[in-house]
Amino acid sequence: MKKILLITCCLISLVALSFTNHTSLQPKSLNDSSKGLNAYFSKYFTIGVAVSPRSLKTNEAELILQQFGSITPENAMKMGPIHPKENEYFWNDADSIVAFAQKNNRKIRGHNLCWHNQAPRWIFTNAAGDTVNKEVLLQRLKDHITTVVNRYKGKIYAWDVVNEAISDKPDEYLRNSPWLRICGEDFIAKAFEYAHAADPDALLFYNDYNEINPVKREKIFKLIKTLKEKGIPIHGIGLQGHWAINEPSEDELNKTLKRFSELGLKIQITELDISVYNKEHNSREAKPEDQNTEFTPEKEMKQIEMYKRCFTLFEKYKKTISGVTFWNISDRSSWLDNFPVRGRKDYPLLFDKNGKPKQAFWEVVNTVK
Ligand code: GLA
Repeated sequence: MKKILLITCCLISLVALSFTNHTSLQPKSLNDSSKGLNAYFSKYFTIGVAVSPRSLKTNEAELILQQFGSITPENAMKMGPIHPKENEYFWNDADSIVAFAQKNNRKIRGHNLCWHNQAPRWIFTNAAGDTVNKEVLLQRLKDHITTVVNRYKGKIYAWDVVNEAISDKPDEYLRNSPWLRICGEDFIAKAFEYAHAADPDALLFYNDYNEINPVKREKIFKLIKTLKEKGIPIHGIGLQGHWAINEPSEDELNKTLKRFSELGLKIQITELDISVYNKEHNSREAKPEDQNTEFTPEKEMKQIEMYKRCFTLFEKYKKTISGVTFWNISDRSSWLDNFPVRGRKDYPLLFDKNGKPKQAFWEVVNTVK
């Protein structure tokens, strides 16, 4: 009897071990991470990454080329960095990213042409410091978009044209930004028209976050539908996808992808990362409990589940989704190390601090059918 019990116990622990033993989850044919995420997913969509010009000069460049098929400048093409003064553009950073991508035959997503954040101060004011009128601001927007899109014409296949124009307040439609206050909602349609005139072949996206929230989702849907009905050149919806271990739920994400599929445009997940902390939307001061920044097995397990959920659903909507871009390369550094809590280390990506694939990498790869 004792013997049977012992054998049963051994069997049970063996089974349990095979579930917890990470390497056992790697299928034999997929045990080489050097094949790269983009290759694993090529039958569904392109997998991209947001980069800084500096990262292209470190050993992360190798990881980028090994894993990703598309490159997005994290900051270098935003209006503030690229157009710091009215008559001055700063091209070095953006140019170096474009040159790297071209040399290595990677696609490039441009990010972004019109946003309320990281906009240069000069754009909204005149020499005396007064706010400019609509006519002046639209002319400046046109000059900016025409110059930037033209410079990279034929090199950038898709642009985030307008970023985050929808309000987070449930009872407010568009965000109360200087763009809206000065121009009214026209600036959105105009931005798309200017971009299309500068490069008729570029795919133009509207990009926003917290699209899983049903109220915000409907507002984004309404904006895009209205633009389409007016014949404005818009080709895609960018869902940023800055998510976390506790959201989105399967139902929320499924409803989101389903709803946006109804627009008949392409969807791209443009800024994917999954924070190992519960989602918070606003930056705040550190609290004593924020001291524990260890990447615990519990956090890892939750992150794995969320990554699996996301990719399983992305694959379900493969006919509509044309790209998934990670917002940063590895856990070595990410914008989430400083948001929502400055200095709180996060581990939101599929590669660890040393650029090695995490267990989440294999779980994501294993969702490919
Ligand atoms: C938004 C922007 C991105 C980036 C992130 C934070 O999602 O679209 O460009 O600034 O915030 O890194």
